[in-house]
Amino acid sequence: MTTTAPQVQIAPSVLAADFGRLARQVQDAEAAGADLIHVDVMDGRFVPNISFGEVVVDAIRAATGLPLNLHLMVHEPARLLPGLVKDATDQVLVHAEACAHLHRTVGYIKEQGCQVGVAINPATPLSAVEEVLPDLDIVLVMAVNPGFGGQSFIPSALGKLRRLHRTIAENGYAVQLEVDGGVKAGATAQDSVAAGAQILVAGTAIFNREQPVAEALAALRASVAGLTPGAA
Ligand code: DX5
Ligand code: ZN
Repeated sequence: MTTTAPQVQIAPSVLAADFGRLARQVQDAEAAGADLIHVDVMDGRFVPNISFGEVVVDAIRAATGLPLNLHLMVHEPARLLPGLVKDATDQVLVHAEACAHLHRTVGYIKEQGCQVGVAINPATPLSAVEEVLPDLDIVLVMAVNPGFGGQSFIPSALGKLRRLHRTIAENGYAVQLEVDGGVKAGATAQDSVAAGAQILVAGTAIFNREQPVAEALAALRASVAGLTPGAA
């Protein structure tokens, strides 16, 4: 039997999970068909909030067979990378704004055998990733100012996704586009995919009190079914 990778990957963000049942919530997401587990590390400096560090990342990694999509919202992540990056299946995303030596940090992550991504905040221009773009596996376009779940999608992310999609296609780069913040079943997810997003991060849309995780994930998946990334 042959299987083809889904056009769009869904990465539930555990930031919105019930931390008293964290392993169980991660397993629920995996059983519901999540493609990746999005893990938000926040340091209280790069973003005005602290989430968790290495010990909790280890616990999440132990709870799932899925690759971690590690979103490091930390100032100068190079300091923390040796403790955080322990498995070559991890996808490691650092912020362009947080790295004085982004090229070196990207190189270090690649040397660990991991996929590497660079994230950019809503106010950060695409030029911040331009010089490292050929080296990347993922560009993460933030559709909110990072630090908190449950914020509203900032529409200018769509223009960024479109322009990045065009640049990547024109140059033949093997870079995936990811979008994070305010993504829900419906227009935000659909417009993001149409603009080029292949990885959708969703926190409160997946982990909430209104729906079971499986139902929420199925609704998000159904809302982008049949859409081709970058078709718009
Ligand atoms: C925000 C984080 C996001 C967050 C998304 O700073 O990077 O991953 O969990 O949450 P929602 O999907 O609720 O906007
Ligand atoms: Zn995130």
